[in-house]
Amino acid sequence: MLERYRGQLARRGFTWWPWRERSSDELVGLVGLNAAEVEGKPAVEVGWSIVPTRWGEGLATEAARASLDWGFERCALDEVVSFTMVDNERSRRVMEKLGLEYVRDFDHLGLPHVLYRARRPLGQVRET
Ligand SMILES: CC(C)(COP(=O)(O)OP(=O)(O)OC[C@H]1O[C@@H](n2cnc3c(N)ncnc32)[C@H](O)[C@@H]1OP(=O)(O)O)[C@@H](O)C(=O)NCCC(=O)NCCS
Repeated sequence: MLERYRGQLARRGFTWWPWRERSSDELVGLVGLNAAEVEGKPAVEVGWSIVPTRWGEGLATEAARASLDWGFERCALDEVVSFTMVDNERSRRVMEKLGLEYVRDFDHLGLPHVLYRARRPLGQVRET
């Protein structure tokens, strides 16, 4: 898995990153950007998974915000999407705290999902 993530980082400049807490060096989750497909079209998604013992501390939101900044500032992305199962309330709350915009409900792998997106912040210069 890590080999695949490293390969994506080398090719595209982003990936799923393992996150460690600075003070303890403890691995707290996997959060980042990933080349995905939404309804058959290529997209870059931001996603998160935090170890259950550390839920509710704001870690997913903090790491996702840093990942989005990385994508817009260093990878010159115009749009990043995020999706989750309709009933994944925690994940949807992270999307809302990040200020992502709800786009629509859609089917992903035959299951009901919600689609959100973030666009490059206005006024941010595109470094190419
Ligand atoms: C989704 C997940 C990454 C969130 O991680 P986290 O570090 O706990 O997220 P944060 O602390 O940044 O934010 C969670 C928010 O959800 C809220 N929340 C918790 N349980 C909730 C519930 N049942 N309904 C609604 N909101 C809920 C928290 O209160 C918090 O919001 P707040 O800051 O306004 O209080 C974590 O639960 C996880 O790893 N889940 C399993 C993997 C997963 O589902 N990944 C997403 C797949 S698309």
